[in-house]
Order: sequence, then C-alpha cells, then structure tokens
Amino acid sequence: MIDQRQPLLNQWATSIDKAARMGALSSDTKAISIREIGTIAGPRAGALELDAGFDAGRLLRTLAADDMALTRQFVPWVFVGQPAVYMQGRFVRIEAGWDDALAQKMISVKQLNARPNGSGHWLAGMNERGRAVVLHLSDLAPHFLIAGTTGSGKSVCLRSMVTQLSQRGDRLVLIDGKFGEGLRNLDRLPGIVGPLAVNIDTARSALAWAVAEMVKRYEQGDTAGARVVVVVDEVQELIGDAAIVEMIRRIAAQGRAALVSIILATQHPTAKAFGDDASIKRNVTGRIALRTADYKASEVAIGQATPRSDWLLGAGDAYAVVPGQVQRVQIAYMERREIDRLLTSTPTIAAWPEYNAEGVPSGNTSAAAYNGAELAVSLTNAYQGHGRPALVKALESAGLGKPGVERAMRLLKLGREQLDALRGDGWDVCLSADGIDTADDANEM
Ligand SMILES: Nc1ncnc2c1ncn2[C@@H]1O[C@H](COP(=O)(O)OP(=O)(O)O)[C@@H](O)[C@H]1O
Ligand SMILES: [Mg+2]
Repeated sequence: MIDQRQPLLNQWATSIDKAARMGALSSDTKAISIREIGTIAGPRAGALELDAGFDAGRLLRTLAADDMALTRQFVPWVFVGQPAVYMQGRFVRIEAGWDDALAQKMISVKQLNARPNGSGHWLAGMNERGRAVVLHLSDLAPHFLIAGTTGSGKSVCLRSMVTQLSQRGDRLVLIDGKFGEGLRNLDRLPGIVGPLAVNIDTARSALAWAVAEMVKRYEQGDTAGARVVVVVDEVQELIGDAAIVEMIRRIAAQGRAALVSIILATQHPTAKAFGDDASIKRNVTGRIALRTADYKASEVAIGQATPRSDWLLGAGDAYAVVPGQVQRVQIAYMERREIDRLLTSTPTIAAWPEYNAEGVPSGNTSAAAYNGAELAVSLTNAYQGHGRPALVKALESAGLGKPGVERAMRLLKLGREQLDALRGDGWDVCLSADGIDTADDANEM
C-alpha cells in the first residue's frame, strides 16, 4: 500500500500548483507562481514543501486561514488528524496524516539497522526521508525534555533510549514519578547506578547521588569518567518537592561540562513546571515532542511556536529538536524480548543512601574549584571565541600560572558555559558543529 504514497503526493502537488497559478490560493485572487514543490512521504504523514519566493507570506496566510479550510480541500486521500501549515526555512510546508493503510506506525530499532556508536548516542527513529535519526547528548544538547500527552509514546521512547544508552557504556540513574510503570525492570540493564527510584524519598536520594558525582568531577578536574544520564519519567509528579526541583535545576545548569546529563519526561509540559524556572528551560535544549494536548503544551514541548506538536498523530509520531534543527520522526521502539534479553545485571548500589539535605554539596559547584580571576579570564576568552592555547597564554600573562591540559580544558568549558548563561538564551548560540555529526547510514542531529 505504501507504494501509493508517491502518486498521491504528486497529485497533491499538481493540484496546489494549478490552483496557485489560477489565483485560487491568495485572498486577492492574484496568481502565485510556485517555483518548486518538494514531495515528502514520511512514515506518518505526507508533506509538500512549496517554494513561493516573495509570495510565501501570502500563500501561508491563505493555506492556514480558517483552520486550514482551503488546505483540507486539496489533500487527495482521507487524511487523519489535523493538516499542518507552517514555514520551514524559506518554504511553506503542508503536512497531512496518512490513514492506517498508508502509514508506517511500527518501526523497530532493529529494523532500522543503523548502529550508533559512542557514549550518549541512540537511534531515535525514522525521519521523513526514511532515514535513521541518531540523537546524542552533546554540548549543544546535553539534556532532553520528552513531552507528550498520555499514550503519545513517552515510555516507549524512554525505554528504547535507556536500553540503548546502557549498551554504550553510559551510567544511568532511573527515576519514575508514577510508581515505576514506565521504566519498570530497566534497573537490571548493565551500567545502572542504583535501583529504580519510585517515590519522593528515593528520587531525592538518587538525584543527590548525581549532584555529588557532578561536584566530585568538578573538584577533581575529572573529564575521563563515563557519562552519567539521569532519567526522570513523569517528572510532573515530583516537582512539588523543592529539593528535587533544585537538584534538577543544578544538574541542568552545571552538568554539561561534568558529563552529567538529565532526561526529563512529562505528560504536562506547562509553563508553570518549566517556563517559570528559566534555568531548566534554557539548559534543556534537546527536545522530543510527542503529541501534546494543546498549543500551550506544544510551545513548551518544542521550545518555540512552530511546528505544532498538538497536531501530531500519537503513538510515536514526534518532532525531534536540537538547537537549529527540527525533524519529524517516527520513534523506533525496542521489542520487549529484545529488552528482556539485556536485563542481566544488578545496580551497582543496592539501595540508595538516605537523603540528607546537608549531605548535598552546595554552592556554585562549577566555580568551586577555581578562583574568580581564573573564571574571569576564561569568560573573556569564551566571549572572544578563542580556544585552549589562547586561554593558557591569557592565564599565564595574568599571573595565574600555567594550567595542565585537563585543567585548561575544564576552564575553557566553564568559560563557555558561563557565557551561555549570560547570553540567557542558548538557541542562537552556535558552538561549532559539535551537536551535528554526519554519518553515511544515519542522519545525526
Ligand atoms: N514508537 C512507537 N511505535 C509504535 N507504537 C507506539 C510507539 N509509542 C507508543 N506506541 C503505542 O502507544 C502505546 C502507549 O505508549 P506509551 O509509551 O506507554 O505512552 P505514554 O508513556 O506517553 O503514556 C504503546 O503501548 C504502543 O501501543
Ligand atoms: Mg508513560
């Protein structure tokens, strides 16, 4: 059946093109000439990319007006859900969901047959061009928010991600705000630090362990350790607890340079939960937005006004977002028996130590091991866009001694981190090509 998709897309493109030329797609009935139309057969929806040049605005307005009334008339199949109309780059983009016969809903990690390598990498799913999408925890996107309404596919997505990361040698801390339903049994994967935390007390203890590990790494200047990934499913159940919120905030703000990442999953991505705390919003730059309940949730989930995750179709239909890139992805699931086969281990720590507020190292941990003058030089260096050699020179000439490679690297990262924090908004800060690798067999974001 999916062979029928391309002819349908061609038919759609032809009718839109004709209508535009006849002036049917502008409110003033003036002709719009569309220079080029790209057709895209995604797993869950078909899409057209319309290059209308200077007429893009007029075309967008007409196609999006009155709940996409006009757009709906041109789709040559019985589409499911809500058609989407938005700008992507300089193209006007329209999308309409395939019905069950035309959709590819079940895509497994195994069948995608791409093997991401290296710490923090996982195969997220299939993009609209049929290619595997590999996401990774990087300087550009050290932390992720996974948002979607109940049944949208958060747990399926998390289970696949956690299982894959455990195979890459990453160390995982698992927390589940809803009695451990979503992450159940995954604490028997290799590389798991402690038992799955399923209540406020153990969640505090698990987070305290991660904060202490982060501080230790800063103090010892240790960059060589394995990546620690803290995964919190149903985080909305835990944010009533001030200690938990504060520890999440600290990991999000300071974890990057210590290779401590946090993955937050929630069915209620509200401005209240995340927007008020600008620090979490700013630092959690990676997003997987599954279908959300409404436009407000979409804005928080995606981190910007478009595309609209409330128009997604559920069951793994998602937008993957890293700064500067958005892709529609059908999330790949891992078969249950495939996961079961890997549940061969026991957590390193048998029981989380009792939480003790005084036991959590406080203060500005990232700065703790350095003096103010060193940080100031590092910050200036970051602002000037210089690398490590320039930083070493600047520290020497400021009479601060000649740091070793490790320490200099750390100061370099800290300087950049502080700069980001000052700029207040990570989205328009582009740090080289760090977050976007390319591979032959996969599309890395
Ligand atoms: N990536 C996916 N591929 C195929 N089916 C999925 C996918 N994600 C979710 N589903 C379907 O939707 C159901 C609910 O998914 P789940 O992850 O439990 O949702 P949530 O945790 O968001 O409430 C699953 O049992 C499965 O049937
Ligand atoms: Mg769930």
